[in-house]
Amino acid sequence: MKVLLIGSGGREHALAWKLAQSPLMTEFYATPGNPGIAEHAALVSLNVEDHEAVAAFCREKAIDFVVVGPEAPLVAGLADRLRAYGLKVFGPSAAAAQLEGSKGFTKDICARYNIPTGAYQRFNNAPKAKAYIREQGAPIVVKADGLAAGKGVTVAMTVEEALAAVDDCFEGAFGAAGAEVVIEAYLDGEEASFFCLCDGRNALPLATVQDHKRVGEGDTGVNTGGMGAYSPAPVMTAEMIERTMKEIIEPTIRGMAESGYPFSGVFFAGLMITAKGPELIEYNVRFGDPECQVLMMRLKSDLLPLLLAAAEGTLDKVMAEWSDDPALTVVMASKGYPGSYEKNTPIVSLPEAGDGTKVFHAGTSLKDGELVATGGRVLNVTATGRTVGEAQNRAYALVDKVEWENGFCRRDIGWRAIEREKA
Ligand code: AMP
Ligand code: GLY
Repeated sequence: MKVLLIGSGGREHALAWKLAQSPLMTEFYATPGNPGIAEHAALVSLNVEDHEAVAAFCREKAIDFVVVGPEAPLVAGLADRLRAYGLKVFGPSAAAAQLEGSKGFTKDICARYNIPTGAYQRFNNAPKAKAYIREQGAPIVVKADGLAAGKGVTVAMTVEEALAAVDDCFEGAFGAAGAEVVIEAYLDGEEASFFCLCDGRNALPLATVQDHKRVGEGDTGVNTGGMGAYSPAPVMTAEMIERTMKEIIEPTIRGMAESGYPFSGVFFAGLMITAKGPELIEYNVRFGDPECQVLMMRLKSDLLPLLLAAAEGTLDKVMAEWSDDPALTVVMASKGYPGSYEKNTPIVSLPEAGDGTKVFHAGTSLKDGELVATGGRVLNVTATGRTVGEAQNRAYALVDKVEWENGFCRRDIGWRAIEREKA
């Protein structure tokens, strides 16, 4: 099978690493890729925003299957365009990608199908939004409706903070994404992420992950794209997984199909486990980054037939096998991230992959043959262990072998699970 993978982050490196192990793979291309992905796939330079150019490449190379990593091309309709050319694609249509592309769209699906989530209202002007906030009081959550690279959400502990967030949105802090806002009730509990493949009708549950969104140790400081993750998430017991499938995923699949937007691809459900049980915070329509890295470390099955089954509507005929051993990834970021940071700083040396250890490239390039850091989040240092504690020790032992002057990481990834293990 000839496969094209789209994307350039740590998530796509993990997907490439896993896909390349498939006995079904005959030719493997990636665009734009990164130096880590280049170990597994031939990199091609395509403008992913030019859907015709991507389709032309697929025709020229007789590509059988396209795997789309990030959300932006999905929301922009790349999967629709490629499918119109008869290609098989892993990833939803633009209409179905609204589950990530519009928070208001998702909340409306939740309301219509009785999916547990925080009570909400949608607004397209500041005065009405502010009146609602004053009426509801704090804590309260203000969200720009559209894609805002993970920055459009303010969890406001005071009314003043919420009012300021509304001004930010309508004054253009998030561009077009902020033209509408969703104001939502604050949910109290422990967060977890749940991943599930879907082919429009059938669902194949994958696994659970816990992320670390804040930049600082002890979950302090500003939100980031994620500073580390581990799988499985202990808060997601078998009962919580069953309830998530029944109360959240299955009604969503039904709702999307009935609305005329059957969903195929991966559901990444951001959940709050409250006293009432799992409630939906948000959907993403692609694998999480860095959540994907720990999922791929634990997946024993061949990934390619699973993604293909999601694209072909045959998920009821496949199974995914997982290692019981937890996996943990530590994100090494450029100093200053998520604010401004220096680019092109040299990464002098990286440890080799070992048994259950792997360093994924998230934001690197080759410059005159030397590896440099080009992104905010740069490396995902990943390890498995018999416990989260052991996976953490092994990951940090590897972090300490990375020679990169301008890098930093949190030293407490996995702390919640490790506290539970000690208890
Ligand atoms: P999102 O981009 O929707 O994932 O939101 C980013 C983060 O904001 C989430 O991971 C949560 O930590 C927090 N958050 C979002 N919505 C809520 C909510 N209704 N209640 C509490 N925290 C929330
Ligand atoms: N780590 C969060 C995300 O991929 O959206």
